[in-house]
Amino acid sequence: MQPHITRRTLLGGGLALLGSPLRAVAVENENARLARIARTSGLFYGAAVNSASITADDFAKAVVRDADFIVPEWEMKWGTIEKVRGNRQYGAARKIVDFANFHGLSVRGHTLVWHRNIPAWAVEALNNKEYGIMQEHIRGMVANFGAVHDWDVVNEAIDPTSGRSDNLRLSPFLSALGPGYIGEAFRTARAASPGARLVYNDFGFEYEIETHRTRRRALIRLLERLKVTSVPIDAVGLQAHLVTRGLKFDPAAYSAFLKDIADLGLKIIITELDIQDTDLPADTGERDRILAGEIARYLDAVLAEPAVAGVLTWGLSDRYTWLNSDPKAKRPDGLPSRPLPLDDKMERKPIWSAIADAFRNAPERS
Ligand code: XIL
Repeated sequence: MQPHITRRTLLGGGLALLGSPLRAVAVENENARLARIARTSGLFYGAAVNSASITADDFAKAVVRDADFIVPEWEMKWGTIEKVRGNRQYGAARKIVDFANFHGLSVRGHTLVWHRNIPAWAVEALNNKEYGIMQEHIRGMVANFGAVHDWDVVNEAIDPTSGRSDNLRLSPFLSALGPGYIGEAFRTARAASPGARLVYNDFGFEYEIETHRTRRRALIRLLERLKVTSVPIDAVGLQAHLVTRGLKFDPAAYSAFLKDIADLGLKIIITELDIQDTDLPADTGERDRILAGEIARYLDAVLAEPAVAGVLTWGLSDRYTWLNSDPKAKRPDGLPSRPLPLDDKMERKPIWSAIADAFRNAPERS
């Protein structure tokens, strides 16, 4: 991880940010920052941002206030970077990295190998047996973003509905390269960046439903295979897009799952925490109370596991959440959803307090 330049030094300097409208931000009360509260338990806190949201002054200030890490929502995905073969467009991602550098924040790189958001030319090239393009892409990204020391190397490779005995997803990478593509991606990333934290990231493990149980088993089997073949993987990212549709979260079952990951010598990061409120009452107070309660129950179980190193939310303010554009997550009454720690005016909500309390109550990491 990069050393942190203190925000006070930077923010006190009154520097202009690379032509951005953001002014120097004073962090009035260090103790009231989520990242600071996390740090006192040896954890970290971060949030997803995008190149548009950080140009809003109030959002940018909120991010700098609460987060130690930021992760680009879509700017580092292959289909965004290299829509046209050989014409790599790093500009949007660069804005986020520059913002992070200016404010002394760390960046998680998301994501190198994913079945979604791959450029059409790459799918075609993989089909035409141009096997080297995955490695080239990884090397290019890691070299270009040298200051990023934390990468989601492979994202969402598990899909038990594939009918395969290894439960791997039928992706263009799998079709072209076979199941060994996952190990190959990690080895390529390690060679390109020996000191980075290399993460396998996936979703759909939280609830006591058959698909999530199967996905949990599939993940552990995959990690075992990676470890047995000495694949250089450091951590598992659990996305944690929570829902409130009456699905049962069982802290004991989930803790056992986290322990299985930890027993393989891997760290765990909660990488994309948010919570859908599709089926909750319209009343804001009641909705917020229920959502915060669910987040608290989830994080209490998660943070009791010493291998958990940190938590990132997928966004910070309800003003910028992917859930308002995802048809599956939209509320039937048309009200905007409230999945994140801050409301659309950057005011703290009960979810913020639930996360802060969970950090405060977490057993201290060394
Ligand atoms: C989402 C972004 O939030 C959207 O802006 C984008 O259009 C689609 O992807 N799992 C992931 C993230 O790993 O990359 C996804 O992000 C959310 C689900």
